[in-house]
Amino acid sequence: MTEKVKTAVIMAAGMGTRFGDMTETMPKGFIKAGGQSMVERSIQTLIDCGIHRIIIGTGYHREAYETLAEQYPQIVCCFSPRYAETNSMFTLWNCRDIIGTDDFLLLESDLVFQKQAITSLLESPHPDLMLVTPVTKFQDQYYIQVDEDKVLSGCSTNKEDLTVYGEMVGIHKISHRFYQKMCEDYALKMKEQPKLGYEFELEDISRHHINLHVLKVDDLKWYEIDDPADLAYAEEHVLPFIDGLDSQESQQKSSFPMNIKRNILLNPGPATTTDTVKMAQVVPDICPREREFAGMMKSLRNDLLKVAHAPAEKYTSVLFCGSGTINIDICLNSLLPEGKKVLVVNNGAYSTRAVEICQYYGLPHIDLKSSVYEQPDLDAVARTLDENPDVALVYTTHHETGTGVLNPIREIGALAHQHGAVFVVDTTSSLGMIPFDMEADNVDFCMASAQKGLMAMTGLSFIIGNEDEIRKSKDYPKRSYYCNLYLQYDYFERTGEMHFTPPVQTIYATMQALKEYFAEGEAAKFARHRRVFEAIHKGLDELGFKDVIKRELQSGLVVSVLYPSDPDWNFERVHDYCYSHGFTIYPGKISTTNTFRLCALGTIDTPDIEAFFRVLRDALVHEGIQIPISYN
Ligand SMILES: Cc1ncc(COP(=O)(O)O)c(C=O)c1O
Repeated sequence: MTEKVKTAVIMAAGMGTRFGDMTETMPKGFIKAGGQSMVERSIQTLIDCGIHRIIIGTGYHREAYETLAEQYPQIVCCFSPRYAETNSMFTLWNCRDIIGTDDFLLLESDLVFQKQAITSLLESPHPDLMLVTPVTKFQDQYYIQVDEDKVLSGCSTNKEDLTVYGEMVGIHKISHRFYQKMCEDYALKMKEQPKLGYEFELEDISRHHINLHVLKVDDLKWYEIDDPADLAYAEEHVLPFIDGLDSQESQQKSSFPMNIKRNILLNPGPATTTDTVKMAQVVPDICPREREFAGMMKSLRNDLLKVAHAPAEKYTSVLFCGSGTINIDICLNSLLPEGKKVLVVNNGAYSTRAVEICQYYGLPHIDLKSSVYEQPDLDAVARTLDENPDVALVYTTHHETGTGVLNPIREIGALAHQHGAVFVVDTTSSLGMIPFDMEADNVDFCMASAQKGLMAMTGLSFIIGNEDEIRKSKDYPKRSYYCNLYLQYDYFERTGEMHFTPPVQTIYATMQALKEYFAEGEAAKFARHRRVFEAIHKGLDELGFKDVIKRELQSGLVVSVLYPSDPDWNFERVHDYCYSHGFTIYPGKISTTNTFRLCALGTIDTPDIEAFFRVLRDALVHEGIQIPISYN
């Protein structure tokens, strides 16, 4: 099969009895899912993917498909007169004259699926291919077993019969050779097994004659709709994702490759991004009030929960247009009940920002300040909570970006919960880069922006939080109109949209960045950041630089480096030299000590850091600074 497949066969003869009244007057493919019939969705996707000829194996209510064929010149119907007493293999066999010698895609008529289902089959070099995913449903699925070459070796509706590799989607790519063999084999069995499902014929041919490879696509969105309950589930949980993802894909298709200079950002965010994330922003203009844009945001919000390990039954994510500070503002002004206090566990610049926000809004608060070089004292936190039973919100920063200190949020969260307070954590510079687990870490609300751990662009921030607590906050004092958590949450719930104009292009970039996040894999990404961090330390050690935070307290993302005592040291000049060579270094944020920062965020790896240290060494030589670095 060298040519791309141009033909598809949809098996649509069945009676769809499980739909009850709904299929009395129409075949099940005509049931509307998300405002469009399932079969028309499939037809449009197939045509979009370059399929020229769509053969529909009809039976029950054949006239519906014949009318549809008048609208689509691509459709040819093939009626199976024995549809009531046979099954899908007969329908498929019955199409043999019309199929002729074409290779084809084979689909069931009761599926909704992402376009990627079709493109991944078309793009694969295997001539005979079955599409599977991890299990999606709790009933009616065909479990698939494969051999070591990922060739179909078993198919059953009973999990116990085999070693399950995945669930059959119901979309395949079949060569003429394979189909011929299926037909020959079925012709021999037809008398005894008129009701044979085509799945079992696929299995038979694969086991005994021609390999049927199995392609597993882990994150594919699809659903088989067999009854009204399936339909309701798909409309709520699957179709919005499909619509959003397909729209994103087609928007991106029309973007163009660019040659963009790669800068290495060693500042604590925005971080270095991939070209694909940059280019994801170049899309045709779209009004964000279109349904497909809301579908994209639904998918994005759901992915954010996965990044934070926040179960969707309990947590939700709410998007905002703004930089990271908007999240701090929103959480503090929205989540404090009347007559209650905030406790800010403060050992750095970002918790100090939270204190300033409390001051601005006049929120009753306690600023439990401690050394920026150390983690907070848990005894002091417990004592403060004991002495202040009116504290309803405990706030801290996970990773104090100003110093690089990582705070013990799990322990602080446990204390907050023991005292009946909600726990809000600023995870802006840690989420997606170091381990975090909403529930295990005792966190009720966390927050971040797209440009740091997700390695996307600026302008999109998000809060992930306990949905019950957000609902409760509806009755809390309103301190801001634009920055109110409940208002934005409620708008998303009712419409799927942001209350006011979203940062459209940043959302496209974030969708792409999340795709890349999951493709890299959480563990691999964390390991990469750690590797970069170790490479930074190695480079600093070799030059004789000192850092100011004890190693065991460091987050693994930011190193605060002490200014050398050398009289020729001038941070701005060293910065400018590095900057002109494509590397950005960043000033420190400790008021009592002169430091600069080197950070391990972004799509960078050890070779980038090694290249940076060659440039830094040159910069030091250029500035006449003694190496190794001297400290008095
Ligand atoms: C811990 C932390 N919180 C909040 C912010 C938000 O800052 P901005 O509003 O500049 O995005 C940052 C940015 O560096 C941060 O590191």
